[in-house]
Amino acid sequence: MHVTHLSLADFRSYARVEVPLDPGVTAFVGPNGQGKTNLVEAVGYLATLGSHRVSSDAPLVRMGADRAIIRAAVRQGERQQLIELELNPGRANRARINRSSQVKPRDVLGIVRTVLFAPEDLALVKGDPGERRRFLDELITARSPRMAGVRSDYDRVLKQRNTLLKSAAMARRHGGRSMDMSTLDVWDQHLARVGAELLAQRLDLIATLWPLADKAYEQLAPGGGPLALEYRPSAPGPGQTREELYEQVLAALADARKQEIERGVTLVGPHRDDLRLLLGELPAKGYASHGESWSYALALRLASYDLLKAEGNEPVLVLDDVFAELDTRRRERLAELVAGGEQVLVTAAVEDDVPEVLHGTRYTVAEGEVTRT
Ligand SMILES: Nc1ncnc2c1ncn2[C@@H]1O[C@H](COP(=O)(O)OP(=O)(O)OP(=O)(O)O)[C@@H](O)[C@H]1O
Ligand SMILES: [Mg+2]
Repeated sequence: MHVTHLSLADFRSYARVEVPLDPGVTAFVGPNGQGKTNLVEAVGYLATLGSHRVSSDAPLVRMGADRAIIRAAVRQGERQQLIELELNPGRANRARINRSSQVKPRDVLGIVRTVLFAPEDLALVKGDPGERRRFLDELITARSPRMAGVRSDYDRVLKQRNTLLKSAAMARRHGGRSMDMSTLDVWDQHLARVGAELLAQRLDLIATLWPLADKAYEQLAPGGGPLALEYRPSAPGPGQTREELYEQVLAALADARKQEIERGVTLVGPHRDDLRLLLGELPAKGYASHGESWSYALALRLASYDLLKAEGNEPVLVLDDVFAELDTRRRERLAELVAGGEQVLVTAAVEDDVPEVLHGTRYTVAEGEVTRT
């Protein structure tokens, strides 16, 4: 699929901007702070309903405006669709598909798919487990948009269970009436049921992604691997199927119950898990060099692209400012690997940072104007 037109109103630095897009490579070039990333961030938002830079929508709305609009025309094969998202920080966002407003923002998921490479990706390797969980869960949702519902169910169950545990912890501390444990039992089952669904998807994803990531790393940095992707569950065990994982989470919750009531927080479940990234024998986090960490993050993104493409819907590739971070050899290898993509959006501060093989449409971005050059 590819985006044929992007239109923004009061999004980030743009009061209004219209950007017609072609398939193939498009590069946005311009000095720092001119709004290049803002453009590709909007494309990414259509795919994930979130920004790769901030966790809330407020910064996405132009200073002084009260809502932002992202509009995109999307082509998949012969099919053309128009998506509109209205971002209303503090209130519910709204969506339209082909001008029909009988849809929820979540219904937009799956129409645009992106794989976005950005300087922030270094956090996949060096950052907290939450970064890697988000990576996995966003990819799960890109593979199967209905998982957005499972993720939000999980968040809701977790929040309610935490509230219950917190009041139990309070009651304990202040010598109040002890809690009726059967209520907690019910929440354990909810958490284990929804959690098992998420876990099964994560495990399946990792099994598919691992060989692809290993291959991509070998292409970027020959002889530097191998990579290993190891899931580290907070509810340990060999479970693979949803039923097995359900039992596994339930058992771990039972074991953790006393501690959970003391601390007033849920200690077991997919929200406490990690994805361990190994380079050779060693964990990448804490051991890999800066360049190796970068290659690792790029390999994970390239693997995501290969996976989505193999599963039938080629995503838009977004490369935000990544070439400046790479040495010449890796820059060229990465460029060769992505050059044939159906649609590739590249941002760079200077023309020279865009590798030779990525010739295509050029836009200059300066002072709020996006001009074809
Ligand atoms: N909500 C907002 N309202 C108004 N301006 C904003 C908003 N959010 C960001 N900006 C402005 O947008 C600019 C940053 O744009 P962007 O990140 O796209 O730059 P860039 O061209 O990618 O720069 P670089 O080359 O440094 O990566 C900043 O000047 C910032 O002040
Ligand atoms: Mg930028």
